[in-house]
Amino acid sequence: EDLGKMTYTTMCIKESLRLFTSVPFVFRYLSKPITFPDGRSLPAGCQVGLNFFALHRNRDIWQDPEIYDPLRFSPENSAQRHSHAFLSFSAGSRNCIGQQFAMIEMKVALALTLLRFELCPNPSKPPTPVAQITLRSSNGIHLHLKKIH
Ligand code: HEM
Repeated sequence: EDLGKMTYTTMCIKESLRLFTSVPFVFRYLSKPITFPDGRSLPAGCQVGLNFFALHRNRDIWQDPEIYDPLRFSPENSAQRHSHAFLSFSAGSRNCIGQQFAMIEMKVALALTLLRFELCPNPSKPPTPVAQITLRSSNGIHLHLKKIH
């Protein structure tokens, strides 16, 4: 029952996925030629890489993209954006079939953590993002946890 009421938490998770999208790239093999709205085209047989990490930090789409602002995902602000501006779960016929489950899992994990702990970043050990198949930190993610009584 509570999951449907966690609207701000959902916005925070989406904003985190925007900045540190778990799947930074996907690739597609073009079985037929494609022409983009600006007139440029690619022939069949190309391997195309789509950079979601860069898309999520594109200044033409996101104002002050480096700033963490969950309110970008409020219903009013989301309504003005292109449906493909945020692609953490990809889009189209091969989008993520686990996205609803993943969102629920993240909300549960986050809620149960925040009920017990206050979290602070450790500025002396910032994570170093590396794009493998998924986005990871090469040196771990170091946080200070304070138990909430
Ligand atoms: C935060 C968690 C997750 C993220 C960010 C994520 C993201 C993605 C992305 C971007 C794709 C497209 C990959 C591509 O086109 O090459 C994808 C595909 C897929 N995801 Fe997820 N995923 C997540 C969790 C899950 C979970 C929990 C499941 C299963 C329970 C799942 C199952 C799948 C499957 C089966 C596909 C392939 C769909 C297809 O090709 O038709 N994902 N996911």
